[in-house]
Amino acid sequence: MCGIVGYVGGYDCKDVLMEGLSKLEYRGYDSAGVALHMGRDITVVKAKGRLAVLKEKLESKNLPVCHCGIGHTRWATHGVPSDVNSHPHSTPRVSIVHNGIIENYGKLKEDLIKKGYEFVSETDTEVLVKLIDSCYTGDPLLALTRALALVRGSYGLAVLFKDFPDIVYAARRESPLIVGFGKGQNFVASDVPALLKYTREYAVLDEGDIAVLTRDKIDFYNEFGTPVEKNHLTADWDMEAAEKGGFPHFMLKEIYEQPEAIQKTVGPRVQNGLPDLRIPQLSDEALAKIGRVHLVACGTAMHAGMVGKTAIEKLARVPAVTEIASEFRYRDPILSPEDLVIIISQSGETSDTKAALELAKQRGCKVLAIVNVVGSSIARAADYVLYTYAGPEIAVASTKAYMVQLSVLYLFAMRLAMAKGKLDEAQARRLTAELLQTGEKINGILENCDQIKFLASKFMNASDLFFMGRGFDYALSLEASLKLKEISYIHSEAYAAGELKHGTISLIEQGTPVIALATQKDIYEKTISNIKETKSRGANTLLFTTQNQPVPDGVADYVVRLPEFEELFMPMLLIVPLQLFAYYVSVLRGCDVDKPRNLAKSVTVE
Ligand code: AGP
Repeated sequence: MCGIVGYVGGYDCKDVLMEGLSKLEYRGYDSAGVALHMGRDITVVKAKGRLAVLKEKLESKNLPVCHCGIGHTRWATHGVPSDVNSHPHSTPRVSIVHNGIIENYGKLKEDLIKKGYEFVSETDTEVLVKLIDSCYTGDPLLALTRALALVRGSYGLAVLFKDFPDIVYAARRESPLIVGFGKGQNFVASDVPALLKYTREYAVLDEGDIAVLTRDKIDFYNEFGTPVEKNHLTADWDMEAAEKGGFPHFMLKEIYEQPEAIQKTVGPRVQNGLPDLRIPQLSDEALAKIGRVHLVACGTAMHAGMVGKTAIEKLARVPAVTEIASEFRYRDPILSPEDLVIIISQSGETSDTKAALELAKQRGCKVLAIVNVVGSSIARAADYVLYTYAGPEIAVASTKAYMVQLSVLYLFAMRLAMAKGKLDEAQARRLTAELLQTGEKINGILENCDQIKFLASKFMNASDLFFMGRGFDYALSLEASLKLKEISYIHSEAYAAGELKHGTISLIEQGTPVIALATQKDIYEKTISNIKETKSRGANTLLFTTQNQPVPDGVADYVVRLPEFEELFMPMLLIVPLQLFAYYVSVLRGCDVDKPRNLAKSVTVE
């Protein structure tokens, strides 16, 4: 997603903006730019490509020190990546940077053209800046409230007005935006990492909010221009957490942070050896009344939901269904008030997932959010929140966030099962103790990853690769396949092992790589049969299973063995070598592991 920064204060604005944008690179982008208020005029410098290109262009202009400006990294939605489409977009009086989509930009553009405005780019943002300009009569706040009232769609905005040096304006609808409080300086940003070098004190703009920043204060208004107050929050992230800490990539660092992330997330939710959600409104009495659970999310979070579904049905015998948020929001789902909707999101800002949450609430369902970013939109809109404490996840490919989502879903499933009388205290205590052991087991796996590096070298040139498994292992196949695709660009498919023979097996030929996951003992033999079906057609097979499982001759060309462990929690162990496999394949293929092409860390547009 696009990254936004804004600054007003005593430092040279160019340095602060470039530093802030560099901390937002992880969001994914294809061009960047800044608008600098030089006192009498606004200077705009922007370019297609990475920040280094913008930096070089900026330096070549030898601009004087300035103290007020806005910056942007663009992830293209309307219009190809190019210099002219990059932000900021300006008129002689106004400059803006924007994250979001103006859905009615076509009609607005027609009206503006009739007023004499001309357009040079393909973007909706250029329409927005000219709309603001058309509403400007000398009062920036009035111009913003008038213009934004005409807009349908989403925006996170930072704005400069030529007539108002040393003031940055910010506005937000759907696309997240925060402001940072400094001493003699203030900040705007899309996300906390851009602020950490200068301040940890921040506030989150709510829907429709407008902020007016000078060096000494930040005033807040609602969409009608009425003053409002904002809570001040303190970022408990430190610079270290937002840096690589000696690892070659954020993704590898975050894979190795998983044991600590589990401890921070699970530890506070175990009381007297039993799971404790610590949500008073979700008492055992309330849990006992839940008739059905809908787990709704996108991407990796949805894959975590699939593991959660299986755990909920296994333990609590409550019907659970996992839904893709972008499908759920438009298919008029059948919901009843005693259904619980669990919304899962690392960023808490994913547009489709937010929309699914709103739909569930409109239908009278209670919503439990499992979110990693404190104060995010989804966290603030849900009825109940189970925060995961993985810390900032910078790599676009989600790893530790997925891991802690699983851990929280297991805690929920166990507590629900206890409330439903399906799990007694002794059983719950045993399972909870095992859950608390997962971090140590994962450390053991992380200490022995040479085999995974070797296997990555064997499969790095695959063109089509199949994952397959049953039950939990099918859910893991989907996640393993997504990890490999999104960071190595190798095409991969994930299949329910029993389904392959219903058509897709026609694709298996000599040397086709097939990765089978088989950690669940009750269906192990079935998966072995499925591997044999592919082997007999020439597949090159890699099997992930547990230490003591017998592997018949001629079934697997390679075998990776995981330690024997409580089967219920095997997904938390199995995903680790699969994350590492995708990581090493990506590195060997020379891909941009942390910022894969075309992807953004948080998809805040439809
Ligand atoms: C996962 O590796 C991807 N980055 C992506 O699928 C992600 O999980 C999805 O966009 C959902 O994001 P969220 O958890 O922030 O809602």
